[in-house]
Amino acid sequence: MERMPYQPHLQTFVTIGPVSAPGERTGDWRFGLPALDGSRVTLRELRMSDAQSLFAAMSTEEVGRFISPPPTTVEGFERFIAWTHQQRAAGRYVCFGIVPHGFEATVGLFQIRTLESDLGVAEWGFALASEFWGSGLFEEGARLAIDFAFHTLGIHRLEARAAVRNGRGNGALRKIGAVQEGVLRRSFFRGGEYLDQALWSILRDDWPYQTPAASARKLH
Ligand SMILES: CC(C)(COP(=O)(O)OP(=O)(O)OC[C@H]1O[C@@H](n2cnc3c(N)ncnc32)[C@H](O)[C@@H]1OP(=O)(O)O)[C@@H](O)C(=O)NCCC(=O)NCCS
Repeated sequence: MERMPYQPHLQTFVTIGPVSAPGERTGDWRFGLPALDGSRVTLRELRMSDAQSLFAAMSTEEVGRFISPPPTTVEGFERFIAWTHQQRAAGRYVCFGIVPHGFEATVGLFQIRTLESDLGVAEWGFALASEFWGSGLFEEGARLAIDFAFHTLGIHRLEARAAVRNGRGNGALRKIGAVQEGVLRRSFFRGGEYLDQALWSILRDDWPYQTPAASARKLH
């Protein structure tokens, strides 16, 4: 998901405040995302206090090179975080912050957004602070996020787009088991030019990992 669904210039209403009742209590992710624990990383809902660390993680040239320009200020990230809560409450989108064990703040994101309301087709995207590249955090976090998409959101097909030139992004998708389906020619405008993007997919039927307790609920 190089083209981030968040577009500050289209945003007309923002509330900045605490996240509503945790979904763990209600069992409904629309009321708040559960924390997903791995052996080295936790994925959890973004908090307003993550704005500073996200700004630091996403604002470097190497992280931003092949994704839509992220907000350019800490306040911009606060508005983005509020937007993620609104979109989650509307059932259209979820955004997990990546928190390495031993850390409080997020060092990256996994985003999942619905593409078709009833068919369980969604797109995902991710970004991680460059000091954690090659650390294994991406792979573990990706498995947690994909499990959540298939077994809690009820998604059956998860798509990703990555600029063909984005060697790390495409390598990360290949390594997690995504299948490249083709190239979307000149489909992503970045850095003053239209870039070709590789289209990748993962199907729930092919996904080997299971979260037994997960409840199926579709994005819509
Ligand atoms: C995408 C991202 C989250 C992946 O995290 P990461 O920690 O770098 O990923 P990993 O190191 O686990 O996996 C990347 C794989 O690509 C491989 N790779 C690196 N450069 C490559 C290149 N030029 N060509 C092909 N493969 C490459 C790596 O060797 C690695 O595979 P390996 O572990 O089997 O050796 C991170 O690189 C990032 O935030 N990038 C910037 C944002 C971005 O581009 N997001 C993707 C949008 S689709």
